[in-house]
Amino acid sequence: MIELKTEGELAVLREAGRVVAKVLQAVRAQARVGTSLLELDELAADMLSAAGAKSPFLHYQPGFATTPYPAVLCTSVNDAVVHGIPTDYRLADGDLLSADFGAGLDGWHGDAAISFVVGEADPADLELIATTERALAAGIEQMRPGNRLGDVSHPIGVIGRRAGYGLLADYGGHGVGRAMHEAPHLPNEGPAGKGMRLRPGLVIAIEPMFLAGGRDDYRTAADGWTLLTSDGSRAAHVEHTVAVTEDGPRILTAL
Ligand code: MF3
Ligand code: CO
Repeated sequence: MIELKTEGELAVLREAGRVVAKVLQAVRAQARVGTSLLELDELAADMLSAAGAKSPFLHYQPGFATTPYPAVLCTSVNDAVVHGIPTDYRLADGDLLSADFGAGLDGWHGDAAISFVVGEADPADLELIATTERALAAGIEQMRPGNRLGDVSHPIGVIGRRAGYGLLADYGGHGVGRAMHEAPHLPNEGPAGKGMRLRPGLVIAIEPMFLAGGRDDYRTAADGWTLLTSDGSRAAHVEHTVAVTEDGPRILTAL
């Protein structure tokens, strides 16, 4: 079932989204050469409890996972696409980090991710990140009443493919609300004009992830969570939680 949110519920989702945005901003500021991924997770956990919010990531165990997720933040470095578990790994010069974070406030959730390079960046990594951000913006732009779900997926896939990047067939965006993952699933490519019609109050986390090597295959790391590119190439991932409103798209996880 797909639940449309009222304006009052969107207001609470916006507050949860604001917590997510602030934490990601702090994570970006803190992530320097030598910072460990666990330090970033601790920072996120501290800010979350200071905001009186709960983590939808901690102990989360969807069907594809063999163990509950052990952290509040996902830190996916270089060839990790998404769902990287924070470890004592210390960030090195030129690392590409995707930080993905969720927060629940009064039972309503926000989910967002950013990608950036620590230290001196390889221009190819900056291009990968910029393209992923452009795909997210193009998807958000389609979040209007009367459009269909496929209108959101379509530009994301076109932008990624045109740049020669790979995409994951099984992972994409999702509804967000009382649960972090709700229907509908949003593929990161597909035909325009197909799928459910978008109506005011529909809230979706849009999350393009592009693989620099151009291949679509991936493997799961020994930790049971981290998705890695199978060719070792780098990946970027960005995400916003977005509502369809009468006035157009409303980004709930903006600062
Ligand atoms: N934005 C990620 C997703 O929707 C959040 C994953 S949370 C985790 O897949 F706990 F599953 F890692
Ligand atoms: Co998500």
